[in-house]
Amino acid sequence: MSSTLVLGGSNSRHLAFDVSRAIKADYQPVEVKSFPDGETYIRVPAELEGKDVIYVNSLQPNPNSALIETFLALDAIKKHNARKVIAVIPYMAYARQDEEFNPGEAVSAFTVGRLFQSISVDYIITVDMHLHRITDPKRTFGAFVRNVTGVRELSKYVKGHLDISNAVVVGPDEEAEQWASVMAGDLGLAYFVLKKRRISGTEVEVRGELGDVRGRDAIIVDDIISTGGTIVEAVKLLRGAGAGKVHVLCVHPLLVQEAYHKLREMELETLAGTDTVLSPISVVKVAPAIADELKNII
Ligand code: R5P
Repeated sequence: MSSTLVLGGSNSRHLAFDVSRAIKADYQPVEVKSFPDGETYIRVPAELEGKDVIYVNSLQPNPNSALIETFLALDAIKKHNARKVIAVIPYMAYARQDEEFNPGEAVSAFTVGRLFQSISVDYIITVDMHLHRITDPKRTFGAFVRNVTGVRELSKYVKGHLDISNAVVVGPDEEAEQWASVMAGDLGLAYFVLKKRRISGTEVEVRGELGDVRGRDAIIVDDIISTGGTIVEAVKLLRGAGAGKVHVLCVHPLLVQEAYHKLREMELETLAGTDTVLSPISVVKVAPAIADELKNII
């Protein structure tokens, strides 16, 4: 029996298991049930004294119940005298509202950050947390947060599966520069980013300088695909400018509402994401990136 135990929450048992194999630790799922009144019941293994415990749970799908499940589980783990408690939150929900855009709005990124800090885990590891106006996640989650990237795993997938000899990497909006530049560096390709204006929760306008895309294949990379609106508009723009094959990759495939259907209709050459969130396109395992960070910590 190892002195390190990886526990899986209901959204991330697959990932918790893969992480446990990668770091040669034991694995157990956390017991999660619903009471008849809708409240959540959690039971963690009681024998945690002296162990390093890694709890893995993504906050998608069902972000509200996933948050409660995660807080209850982490607090129960703390109570049972684990030596070190590490929360791995592959998809951190509520990170996108990091400002009071209209007076009176809740700034959820800070609220969720404070709730995590109140449990006092030793480390929080998250994957490509949506960083826009706040560029340092320590501002919301405290000093013990580590933000690892899943883009390198996407790059490995691209290298292993796609012909990139005539390709250019594209970020669908300005924020995506942080991911497009990493992938372009990994693949030895050029990149450019488009400009996006959000009209509503589901509608966006994408435009911008298209660079040298005529007759070349485009590899679009973004952190999140939610409704798919951003990708649909970016693909239309690139095709209109004469791009060849279009490949789309993302870290967090939330694929809400009709997103998967909409994207299938675009007849993309590739549509792939990591398994931070399980979806029909979650073909790239993110466990190696998380395991590398855990090896640094434990
Ligand atoms: C936000 O800017 C993110 O980086 C994504 O581009 C965004 O969340 C995608 O949302 P949707 O798929 O709904 O357009």
